[in-house]
Amino acid sequence: MDTILIYDFGGQTCQLISRRIRELGVYSEVVPHDYLPQPGGGLKGIILSGSPYSVYDEGSPLADPAILGLGVPILGICYGLQYLTHILGGKVEPLDKREYGRMPLRFQTQSPLFKDVPEGFVSWMSHGDSIVSPAKGFTVVAASQQGIPAALEDSSRGLYGIQFHPEVTHCEYGGRILENFAAGICGAKKTWSMRAYIETVSREIREKAGGGKVLLLISGGVDSTVTAGILLKALSPQQVHLMYIDNGLMRKNESEEVAGNLKKLGAKNLHLVDAQDKFLEALSGEADPEKKRRIIGDMFMKVQEAEVARLDIKDAFLAQGTLYTDLIESGKGVGKKAHTIKSHHNVRTPLVEEKRAAGLIIEPLDKLYKDEVRVLGRELGILNDVIGRHPFPGPGLGVRILGDVTREKCDILREADAIYVAELKSRGLYDKIWQAFAVLLPVRSVGVTGDARDYRYVLALRAVVSHDGMTADVFEFPAKDLLEISSKITNSVRQIGRVVYDVSSKPPATIEWE
Ligand code: XMP
Repeated sequence: MDTILIYDFGGQTCQLISRRIRELGVYSEVVPHDYLPQPGGGLKGIILSGSPYSVYDEGSPLADPAILGLGVPILGICYGLQYLTHILGGKVEPLDKREYGRMPLRFQTQSPLFKDVPEGFVSWMSHGDSIVSPAKGFTVVAASQQGIPAALEDSSRGLYGIQFHPEVTHCEYGGRILENFAAGICGAKKTWSMRAYIETVSREIREKAGGGKVLLLISGGVDSTVTAGILLKALSPQQVHLMYIDNGLMRKNESEEVAGNLKKLGAKNLHLVDAQDKFLEALSGEADPEKKRRIIGDMFMKVQEAEVARLDIKDAFLAQGTLYTDLIESGKGVGKKAHTIKSHHNVRTPLVEEKRAAGLIIEPLDKLYKDEVRVLGRELGILNDVIGRHPFPGPGLGVRILGDVTREKCDILREADAIYVAELKSRGLYDKIWQAFAVLLPVRSVGVTGDARDYRYVLALRAVVSHDGMTADVFEFPAKDLLEISSKITNSVRQIGRVVYDVSSKPPATIEWE
């Protein structure tokens, strides 16, 4: 299959580049920055990703210069361009002022990279270093308003570079520019589809698992349900053991709904474990977000190990619904150069590492982003109700109750969250939002009911739009709906006296509050 390789220099959006290329129907894969492909095969082009490093940093990621001799076009994005410039004798320097965000560009000359892209289109920049003098043979094709080179090429050698990020949705004509490179300049054929992905992944699962048992821990979200769907399709349902641990931090009625959905998918070995007391006890008195995450993760493994021993499936493969975003946000991107932002318990536990080291781990979604998982789920025939569910973090309400977690607080938040979500659905807003949830704050506030003075909890409502959870914008909530939902919550959940709406985007905030 015609392939575009993305070289991972550790940029947060590296996998996003690959995904955008796949969206065009061209197969693309992320490889470590020092990877050297064999000539031939289906390789049609190479994209060098961005990076949190400067080319001058000690330990900055480098590619093997031999990739320049492979005879396929190369496109450097941001650090990728700076890297090309640096190794080919040009000059890269830090600017006094960083270029960050929206940046209209002016063309200096024509380029196949900008075919059908209008003059003055708005790019998306995020860089400190800039090209001060291009490498020999390179022409400046476009520049920013400040006159800084934004796109360069040496078409005789098939080398292209852009300072902005076409993979980010805020970049106008980003998809067109990537298509101009992949399909136009590289001539890659569009043969990639989600159906093809299912076939490949199913074959890989069968080859790996053979006739062995596979254990999948079900969290209740889209990812684990889709993973269950793939396993049940690729293997005999008798081989597949699905374990759902109720940690007391789930949403209202979640456990019943999850069990029902898995049965519909043909699950034969479904193990439902009620461990609410254990988790709440372990969390008691702990207010630190990362410690809470660790406690939940550790307890999860403890409960799971006890159950695995009880069920006699100790040697089973461990399947996980890990997404690529989970891996990069935990600093475990392909090139291992991405910076750690939050620890996600599903990729850090010793048992997972142990299974990984023993080659006993199956993660069929680890190359996919959330919206790709939804497409995959639909291909597998999973109900829209499940596929369309907003993401829910592994530690559940544990990271949505700020400060220490108690059963009482869980119950309050469950009620409020259920009202919020039900209202969003009945008002036709749920599907317009990437993720909406309520957060219980560790503060109380004064109010009045009747003639009496009150002192009740403050609840924050969050609703964001996003493509993949990597960046997020605040959902522009219709004011009338927001006001009505707020009073419905305060009228129905007597412990909540005040509701606020979170208007922070990511970055600088994250989607979850902890
Ligand atoms: P943040 O809060 O990092 O969230 O902007 C990005 C996406 O990841 C989800 N999330 C988690 N998922 N374990 C998970 O499985 C976690 O510890 C975790 N923390 C955040 C979050 O809900 C959002 O969709």
